[in-house]
Amino acid sequence: MTNDLLQQLRVHGAVPAHVAIIMDGNGRWAKGRALPRPLGHHAGMKSVREVVEGCLEAGVGVLTLFAFSQDNWKRPAGEIEALMKLLEEYIAKEANELRAQGVAVRILGHLDPLGPGARNAVDRIVAETAGGQSLALNLCISYSARAEIARAARLLAESAAAGRLDPRDIDEDAVGRMLYTAEWPDPDLLIRTSGEMRISNFLLWQLAYAELYVTPVLWPDFTRRHLFEAIVEFQRRDRRFGRVSV
Ligand code: IPE
Ligand code: IPE
Ligand code: MG
Repeated sequence: MTNDLLQQLRVHGAVPAHVAIIMDGNGRWAKGRALPRPLGHHAGMKSVREVVEGCLEAGVGVLTLFAFSQDNWKRPAGEIEALMKLLEEYIAKEANELRAQGVAVRILGHLDPLGPGARNAVDRIVAETAGGQSLALNLCISYSARAEIARAARLLAESAAAGRLDPRDIDEDAVGRMLYTAEWPDPDLLIRTSGEMRISNFLLWQLAYAELYVTPVLWPDFTRRHLFEAIVEFQRRDRRFGRVSV
């Protein structure tokens, strides 16, 4: 069913090297079915599997998923608890398969507030999938882009104060090296589900020239076909990076 789109995007060439996704709309998906919000989050797990496999099929090298923001700690305790349990469940269920597929998982965010169960689970999946060569899968958990940039500034200031860094050497590359995403190219394509036209404190530095793609599809309904549609649309865009098109 998706082969037509896969063919199409292969013919067009230029698949994005790095795709970032704001996985939004789980609560509305549940509400639409008169279900509690956590069941919407649970249903969203299937979509994570879909996009991971879609990226493997399409040849995307890096997939960065916004799973839980630092501001999401302000949600009701019951919902936070359900999300943390879900993270553990996802890892317990998927770790072996991800390793077998050559997916290397990394966690981006401020992990201090995580409870021991969630913390052990994320440490485990990072260790067990290390070295995977097919796809880098970054899960942003307890993540805030502003906090990430402030942290980078602090790390640079500490290096300068210790005499290891000349402040005149602080340029864009130096900042980029202090971000959680230092190893990867910036996202080429940002997808947000559920129709919201905002960035919500996600990868503010790294999205400077990303192509934006917002779909009304709610995250639990998002499949690899939707991912391929986004990539086909991406391939139609004219990325100018401030220059004049040739
Ligand atoms: C995204 O779905 C998941 C997280 C933010 C953890 P939401 O929970 O934000 O769903 P809506 O936006 O309320 O529908
Ligand atoms: C952004 O979604 C965070 C995640 C998808 C994890 P939110 O639902 O928290 O963002 P807002 O509140 O709509 O801006
Ligand atoms: Mg939301």
